[in-house]
Amino acid sequence: MSMDAPSVIRTKRDRGELTDAQIDWVIDAYTRGEVADEQMSALAMAILLNGMNLREISRWTDAMIRSGVRMDFSALGVPTSDKHSTGGVGDKITLPLAPLVAACGAAVPQLSGRGLGHTGGTLDKLESIPGWRALLSNDEMMTVLRDAGAVICAAGDGLAPADKKLYALRDVTGTVEAIPLIASSIMSKKIAEGTGALVLDVKVGSGAFMKNLADAQELARTMVGLGTNAGVNTVALLTDMSTPLGLTAGNALEVRESVEVLAGGGPADVVELTIALAREMLAAAGVQGKDPADALRDGSAMDHWRRMITAQGGDVDAPLPVAREQHVITASASGVLTQLDAYAVGVCAWRLGAGRARKEDPVQAGAGVEMHAKPGDTVTAGQPLLTLHTDTPERYDYAIEALTGGIGISPAGTAFTPNPIVLDRIA
Ligand code: URA
Repeated sequence: MSMDAPSVIRTKRDRGELTDAQIDWVIDAYTRGEVADEQMSALAMAILLNGMNLREISRWTDAMIRSGVRMDFSALGVPTSDKHSTGGVGDKITLPLAPLVAACGAAVPQLSGRGLGHTGGTLDKLESIPGWRALLSNDEMMTVLRDAGAVICAAGDGLAPADKKLYALRDVTGTVEAIPLIASSIMSKKIAEGTGALVLDVKVGSGAFMKNLADAQELARTMVGLGTNAGVNTVALLTDMSTPLGLTAGNALEVRESVEVLAGGGPADVVELTIALAREMLAAAGVQGKDPADALRDGSAMDHWRRMITAQGGDVDAPLPVAREQHVITASASGVLTQLDAYAVGVCAWRLGAGRARKEDPVQAGAGVEMHAKPGDTVTAGQPLLTLHTDTPERYDYAIEALTGGIGISPAGTAFTPNPIVLDRIA
């Protein structure tokens, strides 16, 4: 059957359903360059405005998977389990989580990305460890996975190339925020990666893509449906992103905090979420090994971390980079800290140099924000609230501007209950 891009665009523009044949054709033709960027932009906008039903989203996801290679870890002989976060501020959970789950008996093949905008990227964080390499061949990936039980590396170009092209286009055409496109983008990569079980951490709040619970629930339900239909045992936790996770946002700063968690310490919210996700990953993979809380206490998770980082060229004992300049922001009043907004802190860290504006920009390993109090804590006027780290102090004014309206201190005695970390679970 012959197809053409204008008729596919018109179908969705006029609120019609795309046929399986239309979807297969448009994804394949776009990947090969036969459908032009301006035509795919129009279609993405029509999808953003008019949506897609579950059949269309499933077929779209499948077509993106078929645009590239599918990985297979069955030769390992160990159940595999992976986690994907929709992205947040201070979200370093992958770092302690992957070796922790490996220490409890499941293998973790984690293909991660770099940060863009106010949320950080796992690969940028790990690259602050001297010598660590994100780019591995498939054979190297398998060797690290076999020896350390977990591997965190960059996705190769062969994995869902249609998504790579489409995501870059959506980024510049105001079409990122469409639930069918987000769900199919994430799930095409995760299904192509070949994991047996998948736990989704869908962030909700100012620092997340999804600002409210209802949207996050719809995204989670869509992704769980796609995973389950593809034979991947998929569960989603909806978790709070109204304030940053932990006490750091920035690359080397977050590695340091992750190592504290692996050593049995670290901030309570990071420990709680790491353990909750680890238990879900093990249950989804059908592994009844060690309890994750014990693996943090007895040093076995740390042991897997050291093996995983060393196998990728990282020097686990080398000092982490420290930014050249620090600037302390103090509390403007005494009382209860009732707001430390995730988006404000994320943008501040990004402007300090922790993140990038364009894909090809470098990041500063030492830059970021260190927090000395969290919502619910009592603070005294003049006490340090945040330390801003950067190699480029000329950025301070611009970075501090991002905090405007993002910090709230209420009179002492004000009742304040922080949001729970886990808001919902969808299976
Ligand atoms: N992450 C992805 O991989 N794709 C999206 O569309 C959004 C977040």
